[in-house]
Amino acid sequence: MTPSMTPEDYKAIVKYVFDICGIVLGTDKQYLVEQRITPILSELGCATFGDLTKRLSTGFTNFMVKEKMLNAMTTNETSFFRDEHPYVAFRDKIMPDMLERVKTRKERPWQRRGPKVSMWSAAASTGQEAYSMAMIISDVIQMKGMGIVTNDDFGILGTDISSKVLAKAIEGKYGPLEVARGLTPEMRRRHFMQDGDFYLVSDKIRKMVDFKSLNIQDSFSSLGSFDVIFCRNILIYFTDDAKRKILSQFFQILAPGGYLLLGSAENMYNLNDEFLTERFGATTIYRKPV
Ligand SMILES: C[S@@+](CC[C@H](N)C(=O)[O-])C[C@H]1O[C@@H](n2cnc3c(N)ncnc32)[C@H](O)[C@@H]1O
Repeated sequence: MTPSMTPEDYKAIVKYVFDICGIVLGTDKQYLVEQRITPILSELGCATFGDLTKRLSTGFTNFMVKEKMLNAMTTNETSFFRDEHPYVAFRDKIMPDMLERVKTRKERPWQRRGPKVSMWSAAASTGQEAYSMAMIISDVIQMKGMGIVTNDDFGILGTDISSKVLAKAIEGKYGPLEVARGLTPEMRRRHFMQDGDFYLVSDKIRKMVDFKSLNIQDSFSSLGSFDVIFCRNILIYFTDDAKRKILSQFFQILAPGGYLLLGSAENMYNLNDEFLTERFGATTIYRKPV
């Protein structure tokens, strides 16, 4: 028999999920939560939702329970070049500036920052966002790097709270349906190696990207500073207070003149007034003043 969830169970699970990752689950999400947790109940050592909520509300959850709950409760939808227009802005507006930054930094090695341009995919999921950025960087450098700027001048960090998606991002191996979403056959040939039915990100692109686990609700102080941040399709899950805290931390760790791109359904209205706003086609670009 399929275990059923009482309103009290749902309340306890909503609180637990909020506490571990800040995701707000509305009253209309009980069916979704039930659907996602039912398959892992026995793995969590529970026969019923009642068993699980008892465990969650006493605070006696171990690392395994937290990992499984995070992997089940995060929404990891993503694709290569998702929404397309932010990547057009990245290629045509942000990248020319980044090439100039590398050149200037190389000409002034006595300045504190090295030539490496740092970028961050702050809700990386299975890695498509970070690899899409790397493909654009590599293509732009090939056309406009003039031998002065190389792929080694760029580093991209991808972070996520879910260990399951991070493992896939690190592997960089995608199925035919995943590469069909957003990649032209030409891009796929140029930046992937075929491995049976799967496609592996080429070494050249893989080398530019690192992944690590991070709860975006925590402090960013260990990350260093960034020239570009992609934080797309994650803020929608959080409270306004959490969004404010995250945006203010982005502002602090962006280099002067650095760029922030949010998801199409996300904006800074009533959340932050420190960033400058620019439109580029259909994309809103947030910038830290120089
Ligand atoms: C919908 S995906 C967005 C992926 C990509 N940025 C895009 O736009 O295609 C949201 C990601 O945020 C991650 N996430 C949710 N809460 C998080 C948190 N507190 N800290 C870090 N990552 C979190 C999820 O695991 C999920 O992979």
